[in-house]
Amino acid sequence: MKHRASTLLLALAAAAPAVLFAQSCGICHLQPSMGVKTYGPPLNKASAGGNDEVMRVFIVNGSERMPAFKYYLKPSEIDAIIAYLRTVPGESR
Ligand code: HEC
Repeated sequence: MKHRASTLLLALAAAAPAVLFAQSCGICHLQPSMGVKTYGPPLNKASAGGNDEVMRVFIVNGSERMPAFKYYLKPSEIDAIIAYLRTVPGESR
């Protein structure tokens, strides 16, 4: 049962980068519903200077405060998340 549920989640994640983003990154990058302070900055099309390569390197390698995702996400999933974030409106900081 547990296995089936996670397979379904994976299928959903592959189909919807927004879901993949919410699952992998949302804990730190999405506004939590109950007034808890977000841990990372909100992400949008202006993040990482608006540069896809800079963003890819950041996601792959992480930073002191953000985990590296190279062991958790496939390159195609990282591409999908970057493409998704470029559709989120926002301004550079
Ligand atoms: C454990 C919390 C955490 C998770 C999970 C996390 N991040 Fe982060 N992220 C951070 C923090 C904290 C920063 C800012 C710290 C820094 O710059 O070193 C950050 C910064 C970033 C930046 C740089 C933003 C900018 O414009 O400078 C990008 C891009 C980013 N995260 C993408 C992602 C993506 C995509 C995911 C999911 C695959 C993700 N993060 C998951 C904590 C997290």
